[in-house]
Amino acid sequence: MPGWTLDDMPRLDDRTAVVTGGSAGLGYRSALELACRGARVLLTSRSEARARAAAGAILADLPGARVEGLALDLTDPAGIERFAGRVSARTRRLDVLLNNAAAVGLAALQRTPLGHEMHIATNHYGHFLVTGHLLPLLVATPGARVVTVTSAAYLAGAIDLDDLDWRKRPYNGSKAYSDSKLANLLFARELQSRLDAAGASALSLAAHPGMTATGSQRPVGIGGALARLLFPPVEAGVRPQLRAATDPAAEKLDFYGPRFGLRGAPRRIRMRGNAGSDALARHLWDVTAEITDFRYAGRPARPPRR
Ligand SMILES: NC(=O)c1ccc[n+]([C@@H]2O[C@H](COP(=O)([O-])OP(=O)(O)OC[C@H]3O[C@@H](n4cnc5c(N)ncnc54)[C@H](OP(=O)(O)O)[C@@H]3O)[C@@H](O)[C@H]2O)c1
Repeated sequence: MPGWTLDDMPRLDDRTAVVTGGSAGLGYRSALELACRGARVLLTSRSEARARAAAGAILADLPGARVEGLALDLTDPAGIERFAGRVSARTRRLDVLLNNAAAVGLAALQRTPLGHEMHIATNHYGHFLVTGHLLPLLVATPGARVVTVTSAAYLAGAIDLDDLDWRKRPYNGSKAYSDSKLANLLFARELQSRLDAAGASALSLAAHPGMTATGSQRPVGIGGALARLLFPPVEAGVRPQLRAATDPAAEKLDFYGPRFGLRGAPRRIRMRGNAGSDALARHLWDVTAEITDFRYAGRPARPPRR
């Protein structure tokens, strides 16, 4: 059986999607494929000019596409709030939030202006905040989906709840990335519990692309050109996240990855190791809420009985 392909994506004419990190790599291609099926797409980059250029490139390929580029820096909480305001001013529905952007394999320790370690801040805290600020739109949209993009590297990750920001441990770039990718899966897990508790119909799903020849593979050590030769192309790497975003048969907490681990057609896979822990997911959520000083709106309190 050939498995799920991009030809299996349904039409998305009345749908709206936000793609974080849509200026390059898997995010750009995802935005293009969503727009190609008729979705209205808001894609992001840290630079408004890069976001607009990416939207312009999609429009050049697909005249008439409904696509717009907006600035979003996931390490800037105030900017995230402004971004959510701009999204809410443009649309009353949000069918797909594709949490795709990432900092990848930074060899030397980098800190955000707020002092957080760059991988966990970009990949986890930032998406925690974006999703939280966009939650009213997601909850108002029947069957909305939040797709969080992780990596098979999550298997090498660990969550040190006392030191998420690498202040006490000697820094290790690939470990910091792996930890943040495990955090992505735990976030997706607890998000679904919160959506369920709030009575929302929204689904939280996760996906990993396997190895894909994008710019982020430069730090892998074998160089960008060789990576492009050896790794599957971007149009293969986007399949798991696009399946999670659009397959009508997808269910809550589905996790899609390539059939043969790092390549192959996207299929439903199991979250392994600590990624399957509800208790760790809850604990990470609480620590993240403390660090980011952001609380998701809970289930509305019942009015007191007279
Ligand atoms: N490629 C692979 O083989 C592979 C393997 C496993 C998992 N993944 C995952 O797939 C996703 C996409 O990876 P990719 O290979 O497509 O990466 P990429 O080509 O490096 O693109 C990364 C995107 O993230 C954005 N970004 C980076 N830092 C940001 C920040 N602080 N705030 C907002 N946006 C930021 C970048 O936008 P600007 O630079 O324009 O701001 C860019 O659009 C990531 O979640 C990654 O972990 C990829």
